[in-house]
Amino acid sequence: MTWTLYRHFKGNQYLGLGTALDSELKTPFEVYRCLYENDLAKNWVRPLEMFEGRNEHGQARFESVARMRVVQPEDEATVLAFGYDAWGEGKPLSEFLASYEKSRNHLRGTRYLLELLDGTIVCNLNTLRFKRGLLGIASVSTAPAFRGRGYARLLLKAVMELQKFHEGEDLRFLLFSEVNPELYESCGFYVLGKEHQRFTPSIAMASGSSPLTKEEGEFLKAYF
Ligand SMILES: CC(C)(COP(=O)(O)OP(=O)(O)OC[C@H]1O[C@@H](n2cnc3c(N)ncnc32)[C@H](O)[C@@H]1OP(=O)(O)O)[C@@H](O)C(=O)NCCC(=O)NCCS
Repeated sequence: MTWTLYRHFKGNQYLGLGTALDSELKTPFEVYRCLYENDLAKNWVRPLEMFEGRNEHGQARFESVARMRVVQPEDEATVLAFGYDAWGEGKPLSEFLASYEKSRNHLRGTRYLLELLDGTIVCNLNTLRFKRGLLGIASVSTAPAFRGRGYARLLLKAVMELQKFHEGEDLRFLLFSEVNPELYESCGFYVLGKEHQRFTPSIAMASGSSPLTKEEGEFLKAYF
């Protein structure tokens, strides 16, 4: 499945969840979800004609900006190479890519990628399913030529919102940041206390605001 990501003309970003037919009017509606906090509602519907239409200034109301999908076997070499400069440790690229065949997190995870509308793959990340209600994020990487354009943040938000749509708003995410935590703070994560910082310089972070439960802390210990 492929999900389209949109930018509203006022600037907010949305995840397209699909279209649905109104049971009474028999007209199609777009179903979509906010990629930002919205106290009123996260999921919205709007008549498809209006969703695809233009505002009174002639601007597209919702502009497609990229697509998200699950990484397929044929995408793997492309997306794994995005992290080569950061994690390659001087190995040849072929050796670096082959090392994923033995990576526990790679093997147990589900990867998502972000592609531009012309099909260029620009970013990817891995999700680790720990238990019901608890997911890990790992190996966020953007193609070097496409960094600094907001793609990592967009993909992260879209993956998190898709998972919350399926599992509920209380779903918690864990991760270890190897970069300035601001990237993840802007997506709703906070830096965990010293007692959880076992893999420095990577910084342990969690989404939400409540402290980790004992069980969540145990999953964090066994992350790698
Ligand atoms: C880190 C990385 C994934 C960021 O991807 P990106 O698509 O360039 O990120 P975005 O453009 O979405 O940046 C979002 C925010 O992240 C922060 N950020 C981005 N790259 C960063 C970096 N290398 N170091 C620190 N902060 C960074 C910035 O604060 C940026 O906010 P701004 O747009 O307000 O300036 C990318 O540089 C990369 O692939 N690096 C190699 C692999 C890696 O280290 N991954 C991180 C694993 S935790």
